[in-house]
Amino acid sequence: MKKKIVVTGGTGYIGSHTAVELINEGFEVILIDNLHNSESIVAERIGEITGINPHLEVFDLCKRKKVRSFFRDNPGISAIIHFAAFKAVGESVNKPLEYYRNNLVSLINLLEAMKESGIPSMVFSSSCTVYGQPEKLPVTEDAPVQPAISPYGNTKQIGEEIIRDTIAATQGMKAIALRYFNPIGAHPSGLIGELPRGVPENLVPFITQTAIGLRDELKVFGDDYDTPDGSCIRDYLHVVDLAKAHVIAVKRLLSQSHKNNYEVFNLGTGTGVSVLEAIKSFEKVSGLKLKYTVTGRRAGDIEKIWADPSLANRELGWKTESSLDDAMKTAWEWEKNIRNKFKSS
Ligand code: UD1
Repeated sequence: MKKKIVVTGGTGYIGSHTAVELINEGFEVILIDNLHNSESIVAERIGEITGINPHLEVFDLCKRKKVRSFFRDNPGISAIIHFAAFKAVGESVNKPLEYYRNNLVSLINLLEAMKESGIPSMVFSSSCTVYGQPEKLPVTEDAPVQPAISPYGNTKQIGEEIIRDTIAATQGMKAIALRYFNPIGAHPSGLIGELPRGVPENLVPFITQTAIGLRDELKVFGDDYDTPDGSCIRDYLHVVDLAKAHVIAVKRLLSQSHKNNYEVFNLGTGTGVSVLEAIKSFEKVSGLKLKYTVTGRRAGDIEKIWADPSLANRELGWKTESSLDDAMKTAWEWEKNIRNKFKSS
């Protein structure tokens, strides 16, 4: 019998790519999403890619009664991959309570339901934001967690703590928190990808939207950092590589090959790339010249961060396969696809 995995935020950017990889690996997938920041057609697209339509349940994980009844009515779930959350750093500064309520209440409801229904395993979507500006680079998992710069980042830190404490207090429960660096790109089929609503906050969607003519120009936030070309450095990884790590994490929990009931892994390439290098990569793969200007620094940006992914390499047997250029290419193909034929928006 196929093992049943629930993917919350399953029609979102990383959730949808993970659902594809799970189905490809023979899992039965149930998507839960409130469609706050995604479209139900994504579930159909997952079906088109894999040949198997995942079941989509549309509800809000902040509704405690609904969460409990869903898990009571759906026995036999082996694990939950929890992506569903608000994720805009800037917005979280203006709407802290919405971020704390949405990201933390949903997590608490899920953990309660897991306990009640005897679901043992969770994979949690965390972020390198927990490290702030690390003193040592590349950053390892044992680097100190620093005070969060934004309410969004704080929800990831607190989320990790809630899971850790729940697991310590609950026999049989286990979790893996995956700290993502900067996921970019789209599925090579061109059928799913990132669908930002409104003006994108993240670099790559802003680049592709500028190139396609939706935005006048990209603003590079600062070129006076202490980096070789003065722009900020991040670790950009292909979303399909990231999705595959979730499948490995689920298998690790299901096969009991985890070393501790609560584990944390960095997911990145191990290579830092500056904003200006990212632009060059885009220009190379698209053959276009991108319109951009350098402006002042963005509040809350850290100067440079990239992963030491050796723990994930060693323990999960996972490493990124796609290059920055590959990822940019799929991001650009996806941008052209959405505007041409994805949907009305
Ligand atoms: C942020 C969060 C991260 C979160 C991610 C997803 C922090 C420190 N990081 O990543 O946790 O998971 O968002 O939303 O909270 N840039 C420009 N011009 C733009 C947009 C971005 O120059 O128009 C630059 C930024 O200054 C940064 C880089 O591009 O140096 C990447 O920015 P972005 O894509 O927003 O991701 P992060 O801020 O790294």
